[in-house]
Amino acid sequence: MKPLEVCILAAGLGTRMKSDRPKALQLLAGRPLLAHQLDEIARLRPTRVHAVIGQGADMIRDAFSDNDAIHWVLQEERLGTGHAMMQALPHVSDNANVLVILGDIPLISVETMQRLVQSEADLTVLSVLLEDPSGYGRIVREESGQVLRIVEQRDADDREQAIKEINTGLMFTSATLMSGWLSRLNRDNDQNEYLLTDLVGLANDDQQSVEALLADNPLEVTGINSRQQLAAVERDLQERIASDLMSQGVQLADPERIDVRGELKVGRDVFIDVGCVFEGRCQIEDGVSIGPYCVIRDSLIGQETVIKSHTVLDGATVSSECSVGPYARLRPEARLEAGAAIGNFVEVKKSVVGAGSKASHLAYLGDSTIGEGVNIGAGTITCNYDGVNKHQTHIGDGVFVGSNTSLVAPVSVEDGANIGAGSVITTDVPSQSLAIGRGRQRNIEGWATRKKNG
Ligand code: UD1
Ligand code: CA
Repeated sequence: MKPLEVCILAAGLGTRMKSDRPKALQLLAGRPLLAHQLDEIARLRPTRVHAVIGQGADMIRDAFSDNDAIHWVLQEERLGTGHAMMQALPHVSDNANVLVILGDIPLISVETMQRLVQSEADLTVLSVLLEDPSGYGRIVREESGQVLRIVEQRDADDREQAIKEINTGLMFTSATLMSGWLSRLNRDNDQNEYLLTDLVGLANDDQQSVEALLADNPLEVTGINSRQQLAAVERDLQERIASDLMSQGVQLADPERIDVRGELKVGRDVFIDVGCVFEGRCQIEDGVSIGPYCVIRDSLIGQETVIKSHTVLDGATVSSECSVGPYARLRPEARLEAGAAIGNFVEVKKSVVGAGSKASHLAYLGDSTIGEGVNIGAGTITCNYDGVNKHQTHIGDGVFVGSNTSLVAPVSVEDGANIGAGSVITTDVPSQSLAIGRGRQRNIEGWATRKKNG
C-alpha cells in the first residue's frame, strides 16, 4: 500500500464571513473549524498532514502550536484551490497517494474519508445530493453515469445549474497523477483562478478512470462560507450532540436548548433543563439535576447533586449529593465535598468546602479550607488579598460563622468555634471558643426627644 498524505486547503480569504479572523479559526461548538477536521484526519492515520494557509497564517499556526503533526504550507498569493494544491504538492512524496480536503467542511467523518481512500479509480471525488445545490460545483455525468467534469456554479449553464449532485471538495488520487494534471491547469474561468475541480476534466481527457462517490450525510460535507452557514451547521451539530446525550440516558427538557462546546461525559438519569451551556471537559455523574440557564465549564458534578438555575461552574469539583445555586459561582479549584450546599450569590474560589457544610447566601470564600459541618452565615467574606499577596483562611470542623463576618487572612478558626455576627476576625480563634470582634453597641436613652427639643 502506498503511503497516504492529506492536504487541507485553508488559505482562502473567507471573504463572505466578513471577519478579521481566518475561516479556519472560526468556532464551531466552541472549537476552530480546523480542529474538528484534524481530529478526524488523525483517526485516518495518514503518513503526513499538510495544511495550506494564507490569510491569518500566523494566527492559525499559533492556535495549533501544540500540534506538531501538521506541516504548514504557505500560499502567499491566493489564486484558487488548484493553486493552493500546487503549493502543497512539492512537499508530498512522489510515491504517495493524496487526499485533498477543503478547510471549510469541518464535520467530515473518518468513515467517509476511509471510503474515499479505498477507491481504485485514478481520480475519486466525493459528491453529495442536495435539494438546494446553489453555490456548489456541480458533478456533470454522461448518460451512462460516467463522471465528465465539475462545473462551478458561476461557470454553469442553466442545464448544469439544475444538477443536484455537487462536489464536496474531497478528492483522492496519486501524487504523480496529480502533478501531471496540476501542470496543465489554467485560469480560463469566471473567477480567473486555478480550479482544482478542473482535474476531473483533465483526467477524462487522459482516459483515466474517474469516480464520484456519494456521501450519505449532507451535514458531514456542508461547506461553511458565511455566518449563516456556520450557524446552521452549529444547530445541526448541537442537535446531534443532544441526541447522543439522550441515547446515553440524559433527560433534556428541550433538546433544542442545550449547547455543548467541548466534551461532556454523562451518567444515567441526568436531567438538564433549558438554556444550559457546557464548555471544555465536563463530567456529570448519575442522577444529577441541572436547572435552567447554567454555564458549566471544565467541571465534575458527582452523583445526585442538584445544580439550581443560573449557576456558573468553572473548573470546579462538586461531590455527590451537593446543592448549588440558584445564582452560585464556583471558580477554578473550588471543591465541594459530599452533601455541601452553596446558595445564592455565593462565590467560591480555590477552596475546599467540607462534607455537609453550608454557605447559603451572599458570601465570598477564596483560598480557604473549610471543614465538615460548618455553617457560613450570610455576608461572610474571606479577606484573602492584602493588595499584594493572597492568604489562606482555615476553618475547622463544626464551626459556626455568624452573618457578615470578615475573616482577614491569614487566619485560622479552629474546630467547634463560634463567631459572632458582624465580626472582623484578624487573629486565630481557638477551638470551641466564641469570638466577637466588633464595636460594642451603646444605647443613649431619650436621645431622639432631646434632639427635637434642640
Ligand atoms: C469549492 C469547490 C466547489 C465545491 C465547494 C464545496 C473549487 C474550485 N470549488 O467551492 O466545487 O462544491 O468547495 O464546499 O474547488 N482555498 C485556498 N486557496 C485559495 C482558494 C481557496 O486554500 O486560493 C481554500 C479555502 O480556504 C477553502 C477551500 O479552499 O477552505 C475552498 O475554497 P472556497 O473559496 O470556499 O471554495 P467554494 O467556492 O466553496
Ligand atoms: Ca467553501
